[in-house]
Amino acid sequence: MTTLSNTNLPIGVFDSGVGGFTVVKALKRYLPGESIIYLGDSARVPYGTKSKETVTRYSVKNAEFLLSQQIKMLIVACNTASAHSLPTLEERFDVPIIGVIDPGAKAALAATRAGRVGIIGTLGTIGSGVYAERIRSLSKGEVSTAGEACPLFVPLADEGWISGEVPRLVASKYLSELQGKLPDLDVIILGCTHYPVLRDTIQDIADEVFGRPITLIDSGIATALAARDFLTSVEGISTSKIRGDVKVFVTDSSRISDIGTRFLGEPIGRVTQVDIV
Ligand code: DGL
Repeated sequence: MTTLSNTNLPIGVFDSGVGGFTVVKALKRYLPGESIIYLGDSARVPYGTKSKETVTRYSVKNAEFLLSQQIKMLIVACNTASAHSLPTLEERFDVPIIGVIDPGAKAALAATRAGRVGIIGTLGTIGSGVYAERIRSLSKGEVSTAGEACPLFVPLADEGWISGEVPRLVASKYLSELQGKLPDLDVIILGCTHYPVLRDTIQDIADEVFGRPITLIDSGIATALAARDFLTSVEGISTSKIRGDVKVFVTDSSRISDIGTRFLGEPIGRVTQVDIV
């Protein structure tokens, strides 16, 4: 059985920018006693349009920084980094690591009745085919998938354009493409940490385009639950009696407080800029 060096150390979390705050929000809900050290690589965001090699190089640097801060486990709160870099991180670092793909894929399999799952995410995540592969292998080929890259959702979420005419139009275009590929799906994975911010719009348009209620899977929530299950299984839940805090590091601090607060749903507090290149 894996044992953690010190159960009261924080959990390290990284993302390409602020999207990972949707995962932190879920961690705070399901693991309220845990302290979190968050690194947003905001100087190099977006990862979703970059190559596997580049994203992996950045992910290794992010992990090295978080490990230098003393953490008990690492959560890769970025779908693109999880899709491209998880095996490299697992090989290189001697710390329990959870990405967002596996928990999201498992939650989708538990939710689908039709045996048909759609995946929306960045160009990198959808192009990698990792969600589709994972679902195929977990379901032994019984569940079909289709993916649609939705790159415009990221700037819309960053700008706070989360409802109204423009995001509805964009969602309608992307989800109609998905509908053309897999018309009878009943579950869609929000395979990008930005998308939960657009959840209401995506839900509305998905129900309209597919003509029935569609279950959306927030891979951030699924990941927080997987982290809780893991920590419980290794008796690694913090024994601290006080509520955990969140320390935020970024590689560029411009606009972080405003956008981060929208993703976290509460003020993110003090932000420290670091140079990790
Ligand atoms: N955090 C990224 C993800 O979940 C989205 C933003 C980006 O492209 O870096 O895939």
